[in-house]
Amino acid sequence: MSWPYSLLFNGVFRRMDPERAHELAFSMIERAGNVPVLRDIVQGVIAPYLGQRAGGPGSVRLFGRVVPAPFGLAGGFDKNARAVRGLTMLGFGFVEIGTVTARPQPGNEKPRMWRELDVRGVRNRMGFNNEGAAVAADRLRALRRTAAGRAIVVGANIGKSKVTPPEFAAADYAMSARLLAPWADYLVVNVSSPNTPGLRDLQATESLRPILEAVRAAADEANATVSTGADRRVPLLVKIAPDLADEDVDAVADLALELGLDGVVAVNTTIGHNRGPGGLSGPPLLGRGLEVVARLRERLGTGPVIIGVGGITRADDVRAYLRAGADLTQGYTSFVYEGPLWASRINRALTRSAGSTASGRYE
Ligand SMILES: Cc1cc2nc3c(=O)[nH]c(=O)nc-3n(C[C@H](O)[C@H](O)[C@H](O)COP(=O)(O)O)c2cc1C
Repeated sequence: MSWPYSLLFNGVFRRMDPERAHELAFSMIERAGNVPVLRDIVQGVIAPYLGQRAGGPGSVRLFGRVVPAPFGLAGGFDKNARAVRGLTMLGFGFVEIGTVTARPQPGNEKPRMWRELDVRGVRNRMGFNNEGAAVAADRLRALRRTAAGRAIVVGANIGKSKVTPPEFAAADYAMSARLLAPWADYLVVNVSSPNTPGLRDLQATESLRPILEAVRAAADEANATVSTGADRRVPLLVKIAPDLADEDVDAVADLALELGLDGVVAVNTTIGHNRGPGGLSGPPLLGRGLEVVARLRERLGTGPVIIGVGGITRADDVRAYLRAGADLTQGYTSFVYEGPLWASRINRALTRSAGSTASGRYE
């Protein structure tokens, strides 16, 4: 933590309820990102590597795009696609919005987010509070109207609405996919949040298969009917929990290969702790996250993309994920502790010291 942010964190944020602190920081990022001159100056100074859209050192060719830097923002921070410009200004190489559900929903009762200061972690049971897929899709459509907005690599993470019973999960996910596919660079089917009852059971391959098939079909149908100026097949990934047994990680990898899925995002928060309700994130996840990514890469071979997430604090953690077989990486929790320059610090280090990785997708 740099000292100016340390003052802000200890003097202001730490004294506030964590969710209120998140909302305050979030609205500052959103507002700054909506002021074009400010945005361009900040981004030019702290994240010059984002200007290398044609592919500079450390950039990654994926999803038919050039991702300008390998460290992006994980799902859950910008649930409603409100601050994509501002988050890019801060130096994330790509932004995953969501989790978005087909129906708007308030999420669980508060409090639902806690700091775990001793491990620099966060625990949450937010429960997919979001404005719904139609609202997020409208925001992404607006973002795509400008050249600068189209240049940003944006993933859309979708989950099941709480009111939808598991037997109708496939149709619920498909509805979100239909709305978001035309505007997203990739879609993530989230079946790994611990905070929607029964959601993680959908990771079992017999439940997952119909969901992924329905989402694939809905996304293809939407891209065939909505004119975005690009005739394309949106890449589809699935996001899994660190608490899956190794055999279940293998089973998801096998299903991904069988269905021709484009990749896997690993990992979500863990319920393997005794700190209270909700999923834990941050540094305690790093070891298992790396293990799951290495296992996936071994099983998947070189084809499908892996996005590694869990416990990343510094550039070396990203390097460890890339060595384990990830193509891209993401983070959330250490943003809270490290402050606004966190992503640009990591990506500057990585784009300076770019090297080859297991995937060979690097420039
Ligand atoms: C407050 C909070 C909310 C989250 N919400 C979501 C979410 O809506 N969807 C999702 O896929 N992951 C969500 N996550 C999980 C993160 O995307 C990420 O997988 C996890 O936190 C591990 O990364 P980290 O250690 O860098 O935080 C959330 C995490 C936190 C801390």
